[in-house]
Amino acid sequence: MANKRLVIGNWKMNPETFEDAKRIARKTRITAGKLVRTEVVVCPPFPFISAAKARNLPAPFHIGAQSVSFDEGGPHTGEVSVKMLASLGAEYVIAGHSEERAAGDTDDAISRRISKIVEAGLTAVVCVGEKVRDENGAHLDFLKDQMKATFAGVPEDKAGRVVLAYEPIWAIGAKDAMQPEQVYEMSLFVKKIFADIFGQEAGHKVRVLYGGSVNFRNAGEIIKTGKVDGLLVGRESVNTPGFVELLRAVDVVE
Ligand code: PGA
Repeated sequence: MANKRLVIGNWKMNPETFEDAKRIARKTRITAGKLVRTEVVVCPPFPFISAAKARNLPAPFHIGAQSVSFDEGGPHTGEVSVKMLASLGAEYVIAGHSEERAAGDTDDAISRRISKIVEAGLTAVVCVGEKVRDENGAHLDFLKDQMKATFAGVPEDKAGRVVLAYEPIWAIGAKDAMQPEQVYEMSLFVKKIFADIFGQEAGHKVRVLYGGSVNFRNAGEIIKTGKVDGLLVGRESVNTPGFVELLRAVDVVE
């Protein structure tokens, strides 16, 4: 299998203690090590990145971060640079998450973050998604504009270091995920926009994940019918029994 599926766990601001972080990582590690078709990335809060790493063992999952500064280093109180993350073993960084966008992150700031991530040789997991769906298709225009602004200034030759996470905002932290058939349609749409921005080949190669209320019950069907390359999972990624089941459900899809 050329490309394994990618399941990225975004722990958000969870759990409360380093001990709990170690416990979640340990359970995830045991399951991740048994998967055949699936690659796992765990994105803990910054202080818990080291808790997610197994001592003396090659980790069966990759480490990611939830955000990063667009500055190199120096006088930026409270910020974390991409080099710091790389030195901790992080290979992935999420950029443009809707919760950060809602807190004031601008398209310009996001595109600068993405550039920093990909230029440092890490993979940017770039979140895009509409706030609401509209029967006249206005959400498609919204998404197109959002993607163009988000990727403005990102070097074209680094498109291969981007993973697209399509996350309709109305489905994040919600009761239900988007229907798998719609996930399929929308994943094709965002791939097409990506191709318009970065060229046909990049559009063909980019991996598209779905995120928004994915859990162990719906994950397999979203992969199967939604035909996405993976999932970005919030709440269920820190609910270890659920995440273990979710990983197994994804891995068994042919
Ligand atoms: P959720 O979050 O799985 O809790 O809906 C997804 C996300 O915000 O990435």
